[in-house]
Amino acid sequence: MKSKFELLIDAMPVTVSQISSDMTYINVNKKLTEVVGLKKEDIIGKKVGFTQKNKDFSKLIDDIFDLENDFATMETQIFTKNGCFDYLLIASRFNDKKELILIGIDITPIKQQEKLLINKARFVAMGEMIGNIAHQWRQPLSAIGAITADLQIKKSLNQLTVDDIEKPLLDIATHTQFLSATVNDFRNFFKEDKELESVNPLEIIKKALLMTEHSLKANNIELKEEYVFSKKLFTFPNELVQVFLNLIKNAQDALVEKEIQNPWIKIKGYEIDGNNTIVFEISDNAKGIPEEIKERIFEPYFTTKNENGTGLGLYMSKIIVEKHCKGKLSVQNCQEGAKFTVVLKGKE
Ligand SMILES: Nc1ncnc2c1ncn2[C@@H]1O[C@H](COP(=O)(O)OP(=O)(O)O)[C@@H](O)[C@H]1O
Ligand SMILES: [Mg+2]
Repeated sequence: MKSKFELLIDAMPVTVSQISSDMTYINVNKKLTEVVGLKKEDIIGKKVGFTQKNKDFSKLIDDIFDLENDFATMETQIFTKNGCFDYLLIASRFNDKKELILIGIDITPIKQQEKLLINKARFVAMGEMIGNIAHQWRQPLSAIGAITADLQIKKSLNQLTVDDIEKPLLDIATHTQFLSATVNDFRNFFKEDKELESVNPLEIIKKALLMTEHSLKANNIELKEEYVFSKKLFTFPNELVQVFLNLIKNAQDALVEKEIQNPWIKIKGYEIDGNNTIVFEISDNAKGIPEEIKERIFEPYFTTKNENGTGLGLYMSKIIVEKHCKGKLSVQNCQEGAKFTVVLKGKE
């Protein structure tokens, strides 16, 4: 006869298992048997994670026995009879640290939502980028237009000599090189980074600036820069460029919206911890973020810009910095405005 408590555990919509310190299952609930598609008696006594293709899984559990804390949570992928799912595992040691209770919650829907939001934010950023390309193209395109118009006039007046053609042709070639260089630059940003790359931190900032310089200038925003870097970063460079784009764009939005006199954006980069940690600061003089919303600005869809904002920029930036790059993104109000700080580990 099952006790009332056992019935209760069996009725739970999460997986529950009791694990001994030799890493075998002592007991499991009904949900776990359903997830792995095996009977209870086929699981009890077996090694933890024997149904998992992921070799790290049992190591993960093993590590928990060595932890200082009695409690740990982690996200991992679980192979079930229906495929692979994202799980949140909650582990708690008990019985004088000799046993472990492991609870697994299927967070696949939440993860999918997260991915959708990131994709959406990418599209928005891409839209902004196309706007930037158009902006960068306007000048060289009109220059080429003017050169050809000039040539046509000369030709119609029969004043065109071979010498007259040489300089305009060279100019056109220079302008077209610039046009194609911008396209290449922009195209690279939207490739998803698959592998970590060793990059110079300054390069990342410069790429982000290349794409924002024009609109900063158009809004009369002064750019202050201060860098002292000696280390490289081992990171996802294109994703980080997007983070800096978001932070610079937000600062610009705030400066423009509040019609700040003598607006500026300051980008600082330096190293701490004996050069092992790289810090970037992006600050502005747009009077900062009201305290009552400061906690909420990293939430998805939180925006104060009505239909002009998506509320995804900071949310995506936080995921990129903290989840993908294992760093820290934080905000602070300073005397004159907001300061966003990105902290990343330098390359060992
Ligand atoms: N530098 C800044 N100064 C003032 N407010 C800011 C700054 N950066 C972000 N914010 C606030 O944070 C909100 C969320 O930013 P974000 O996630 O990029 O979304 P969006 O820019 O689409 O509104 C903004 O709507 C704005 O209210
Ligand atoms: Mg934004």
